[in-house]
Amino acid sequence: MAYRLPRVVGHRGAAASAPENTLAGLRRAHQLGVGWVEFDVKLTGDGVPILMHDAVLERTTDGRGAVADTAYADIRQLDAGAWFGPEFAGERVPSFDEAIDLLLSHGLAANVEIKPCPGRERETGAAVARRLVERWPSDRPPPLLSSFAEPALEAARAAAPDLPRGLLVGALPEDWAERLERLGCVTFHCSHRHLDAVVVAAVREAGYPMLAYTVNEAERARTLYSWGVDCICSDRPEAILPLAG
Ligand code: G3P
Ligand code: MG
Repeated sequence: MAYRLPRVVGHRGAAASAPENTLAGLRRAHQLGVGWVEFDVKLTGDGVPILMHDAVLERTTDGRGAVADTAYADIRQLDAGAWFGPEFAGERVPSFDEAIDLLLSHGLAANVEIKPCPGRERETGAAVARRLVERWPSDRPPPLLSSFAEPALEAARAAAPDLPRGLLVGALPEDWAERLERLGCVTFHCSHRHLDAVVVAAVREAGYPMLAYTVNEAERARTLYSWGVDCICSDRPEAILPLAG
């Protein structure tokens, strides 16, 4: 049976109304009534999985430099909320472990995007998958892993073959079906900008549920759903939920 994606996923938590990839963002998504969140995981310089989109600290913290060159203890000193709004000052960069705790305590499901720093693809994919094997209770549906980095998906598969995986792309490569098959992916995550009714029909015909990112306008979401897109990943999940059906 095909993997069942939700209709809506909160992007980086709920990135329009709380700082992305923070615990506050995951809580905000939960408050908004969305059952699934997406967030990005990469490794600190000393190998701790954390929630962070960029390879550098500047945009979403008050720190400087490459994540891959910075130890977890130093990243923990940084403010990851004030850049977004003064009410979020003091928010920290969460460890993946803290995010797992929050998912479990709030009953949230997750799409965990493996977002490796360049050159650390396999290490990151394996670390994320291993952590879930160690931490995720067997009586709850496991998070869906995804990545643009195919080596990260391969390493995650080797570490935890039973965790579901999705392939992330921007524009669809010509050989998308072969890639999904080779990686043992159960879902296909595509930029909505590159989709049309014909492409969506072809992917669904091949048996892959589709997630479209990042869609913040209700009208666009309505169109994508009408083409057969299963799931919308949005910074504003509250704007999409009423259409989800
Ligand atoms: O998983 C969907 C989306 O998060 C992929 O792009 O750059 O926002 O991580 P990005
Ligand atoms: Mg992401």
